[in-house]
Amino acid sequence: MKLTVIGCGYLGATHAACMAELGHEVLGLDSDVDKVHALNTGKAPFHERDLDDLLARHTASGRLRFTTSYAEAAAFGDLHFIGVGTPQQPGAHAYDLSHLLTAVRQLAPHLTRRAVVTVKSTVPVGTAPRVRDLLHEYAPAGHAVEVAWNPEFLRESCAVEDTIRPDRLVLGFEREGSWAEAVLRECFERIIEAGTPTIATDWATAELAKTSANAFLATKISFINAIAEVCEVSGADVTQLAEILGHDVRIGRAGMWPGLGFGGGCLPKDIRGFMARAGELGVGGALTILREVDAINNRRRERVIDLAREQLDGNLMGRRITVWGAAFKPETDDIRDSPALAVAQKLHDLGVTVTVTDPKGLDNARKAHSELDYIEDPMAAVENADLLLHLTEWPQYSQIDPHRLATRMTDPKVIDGRGTLDARCWREAGWTFRALGRP
Ligand code: UGA
Repeated sequence: MKLTVIGCGYLGATHAACMAELGHEVLGLDSDVDKVHALNTGKAPFHERDLDDLLARHTASGRLRFTTSYAEAAAFGDLHFIGVGTPQQPGAHAYDLSHLLTAVRQLAPHLTRRAVVTVKSTVPVGTAPRVRDLLHEYAPAGHAVEVAWNPEFLRESCAVEDTIRPDRLVLGFEREGSWAEAVLRECFERIIEAGTPTIATDWATAELAKTSANAFLATKISFINAIAEVCEVSGADVTQLAEILGHDVRIGRAGMWPGLGFGGGCLPKDIRGFMARAGELGVGGALTILREVDAINNRRRERVIDLAREQLDGNLMGRRITVWGAAFKPETDDIRDSPALAVAQKLHDLGVTVTVTDPKGLDNARKAHSELDYIEDPMAAVENADLLLHLTEWPQYSQIDPHRLATRMTDPKVIDGRGTLDARCWREAGWTFRALGRP
């Protein structure tokens, strides 16, 4: 099929490349000229495993191309995916839908024939009818333009795999048996034939599928982090506890790793946007649980600062602290709402000289937090530090030999904020070892 993908960030660029991989002819559209240029040369403007390979292969084969022109996109194909960002509004909890509504308004005047506009962006429930009304008002093809909803569940760091082999496919339509449904089933034929559970539903259910899934994932993380708070005052070990709980299949171990909590461009803003929307709909009380989920998550960051203060005899001012980790999670360079950087910035504000290291996230971190120091080599980064904060799950950090590392510091002290360091081993190597949720 010939299809377009509008908005080529983490979601859209991956979707475009994966649709080409599935055999479609794809035109990606983004308003950022530099991004379009990079993508056309086969390179993603961000780090995502396997994505550069797909981009290089399919831009070379001619099956994948990128543009900034809506006229070109409308002429290219009759199936349009929209994957633009829906960030949190500055100073409010609600979603900022301006990118989505602008994309729809810009595409609409060029839709002169029957087409399906499929939204993948995460939105507050009730957005689909707004998109339909805009299209019907501004598209010359009018009511011949149909709207479909296809929420995306990919995780950064395994986005390609999650797109090509998703654990479920959700398709939302205005009515059963529509043309839009036939078009999307053809588009996803290979995924459906591979046995992927496919749920065709109404718009509202499809919209809610995404926000509810992210709200559940955030709740699961905050649940185990709330238990970590209890572990900290009772001498229990939350990492062992998570394993014990996880053996019950009704609970499950996946997505319940305790530590510094969740960050990134999705979970934090999605729980807030979901609460805001529930409030608008008059059922705010139903989601007050998410307020607590958010509070627990923020308390983890505070707890690291408190532990750092304790480790440094109550005095942070003028001290030197090294932070391992800048990206919001391993295998990405995305620093949006990164818990590690939030801690680093707070320490800096408290008068600490902070040095940060990360395998992929330093360029982005430097742009957003120019007041912090950055060193690529994690061994060199601890030189003369008073304290090391281990705030990332990149595996190469937990594999560093604590004996060798200890020689770089006068009085080696570490706080493990991710529960991935072997406490006994580090203590034997001479470190004063503290951890979130562990004795
Ligand atoms: C999340 C969801 O997992 C995806 O299903 C969803 O499609 C995506 O948001 C989105 O809305 O686009 P992502 O933000 O890439 O994906 O990252 P996750 O792997 O879910 O991690 C989110 C945060 O939670 C990270 O900071 C991670 O370190 C933390 N986390 C994750 C934990 O603290 N413990 C865990 O057990 C899992």
